[in-house]
Amino acid sequence: MPNQVVLTNVSKRFGERTILQDVSLEVEGGETVALIGPSGGGKSTLLRCINGLTMFDRGEIRVGADVLSPGGDPDAASRVRRKFGMIFQDFQLFPHLTALENVMEAPMQVLRRSKHEARELALQLLHRVGLADRAGLHPRQLSGGQKQRVAIARALAMEPRGLLCDEITSALDPELKSEVLDTLAELKAEGLTLLVVTHEIGFARRAADRVAVLAEGRVIEYGPPEQVLDRPQTERTQRFLRQVLV
Ligand SMILES: Nc1ncnc2c1ncn2[C@@H]1O[C@H](COP(=O)(O)OP(=O)(O)O)[C@@H](O)[C@H]1O
Ligand SMILES: [Mg+2]
Repeated sequence: MPNQVVLTNVSKRFGERTILQDVSLEVEGGETVALIGPSGGGKSTLLRCINGLTMFDRGEIRVGADVLSPGGDPDAASRVRRKFGMIFQDFQLFPHLTALENVMEAPMQVLRRSKHEARELALQLLHRVGLADRAGLHPRQLSGGQKQRVAIARALAMEPRGLLCDEITSALDPELKSEVLDTLAELKAEGLTLLVVTHEIGFARRAADRVAVLAEGRVIEYGPPEQVLDRPQTERTQRFLRQVLV
């Protein structure tokens, strides 16, 4: 189960506030899970916990063979981050580097690839996300959709088993959203495990194997899209879907 992600009773507080409450979730290797739910429900915190960026208070997260837990192996987080990349709404590209240099950075710094090797890999990845002809441009010269695809190429340069995507289309115009979502659908077809926080219910329906609804720090629904989106069991999910579908 090298690409599987299993959360068991994960709880997280910030001060007095409970942000995640006994979250248990199994994502099979190669599966795409859409994580939806109201703002403030804990979606970003959950992705950050899975990627070892935020430590939680109770429970356990297993990513492939690596186990994250409070008081557990302090090196597990960096191993998890090599296997699973995270992509953010605001791209977080280096502004002073070209698209190509942004993608070359981690292979050179983290994987100790030669400049030549990193360059070949980066060109290949930019081609894969449809940006071969934009390699020499800086982020400010790219559209939002292009920037987000550079960010995806940069994550892919670490040869990840999976990606954690946090509202990566939220800052984009409608016509640019679809190019990013299409790129994700291709990565799914290539076998990556994807956890995608999204408000794009259409994408969740089309591309997700399962949909999880997180509200007030709890997973209140988890199942195939047609079950969760068309026959939600909880009043909270019904209310949320009415709001996002208007
Ligand atoms: N570093 C932090 N310190 C204190 N509270 C935080 C921190 N990060 C997130 N929170 C709180 O945790 C809750 C869940 O936030 P978040 O995971 O960002 O939700 P979502 O991504 O679903 O909108 C929010 O109430 C937020 O204010
Ligand atoms: Mg969020």
